[in-house]
Amino acid sequence: MDNRKRCIVLFLVIAFIFSGCVRKDTNIKIGVAGPMTGDQAKMGTDFRNGVTLAVDEWNSKGGVLGKKIEMLVEDDQHDPKQAVSIANKLVDSGVIGVIGHFNSSCSIPASDVYNRAGIPMITPASTNPELTERGYKGVFRVCGRDDQQGKVAADFVLNYLKAKRVAILQDKTTYGQGLANEFRKFLDNKAEVVYYGGIVQGDKDFKMVLSAVKEKAPDIIYFGGIYPEAGLLVRQARELDIKAPFMSGDGVIDPKFIEIAGAKAAEGTYLTFSPDPRNIPSAREFITKYTARFGELGPYSIYAYDATNILLRAVQEAGSTDSSKIIDKLHSLEFNGATGNIRFDQKGDVTHAGYVVWITKGGKFVEYWKP
Ligand code: ALA
Repeated sequence: MDNRKRCIVLFLVIAFIFSGCVRKDTNIKIGVAGPMTGDQAKMGTDFRNGVTLAVDEWNSKGGVLGKKIEMLVEDDQHDPKQAVSIANKLVDSGVIGVIGHFNSSCSIPASDVYNRAGIPMITPASTNPELTERGYKGVFRVCGRDDQQGKVAADFVLNYLKAKRVAILQDKTTYGQGLANEFRKFLDNKAEVVYYGGIVQGDKDFKMVLSAVKEKAPDIIYFGGIYPEAGLLVRQARELDIKAPFMSGDGVIDPKFIEIAGAKAAEGTYLTFSPDPRNIPSAREFITKYTARFGELGPYSIYAYDATNILLRAVQEAGSTDSSKIIDKLHSLEFNGATGNIRFDQKGDVTHAGYVVWITKGGKFVEYWKP
């Protein structure tokens, strides 16, 4: 090879390497964090699907700021330590924002990491009030809070069920314990709490605690926790011939709850969650697209979809990937999402969060009662 040819080959090699680097850097990365494996993997998968749909839609229109959007999905296994570890990993990978996490026990410690890095996080599902009570400017949620859903549950138990004797169980997590305590607070001593106790996440046999509950003859059992344990509690309560109704919160609204409890035992159980998106006109297009691609709609998929669209809209309107500019935009945006109109208040909470009571009927969750 003569010198001229050598130069051309060298030039082409350098150009090839350089174009590869440039291509890589032109992507805008967003993190997706939640329980992707283990007994809550269904919720993580619902998140990922919702984000995927939004990202693909943006990318099919050319991405944002002329750049393709890349999703980095990380698994926190609903473990707070793992959540901190993947939060650091996402920050180091250069994400411009994070959609996540699912569990409040993960979102709260992970938000310390995102806050230090100045990166916005939007959780589709973490409802513990403390998340947005610490003055972190870049922390947002598109769901409601447990002081709102605990109040609706207490209202239902007192004024609709007219319960006088209440048993409360919780899974000792930030969410489960927090929600149980909000519920108890809003009972406002108008019903007697005849039993209050904790269970351990991951345990499979709750018959001892349920036998103690049975002895107190409650009118209702309220549970703060997630569907794997809720399903087992309901199944085992019915096996012990406990007839008291069972009520819980948003962490239980998943078909897996009915599958674990068994449709017969789950029949007539109550929970609080936001209104059914199938009755919201703005959600129709999303539901059609989601179900065609992923099958059955997950309870939090639509929130993950909206959270992603809000984040990307903020990037677009900020005209920049500068985190502080994105965060400022998130605070001033008014966004018409699939779940309806979304605006964040100063704390990063949504200005409207409506909880209703759902019932399990014929193996399905059905909206049942409005406060
Ligand atoms: N709302 C539940 C939590 O905050 C999922 O952990």
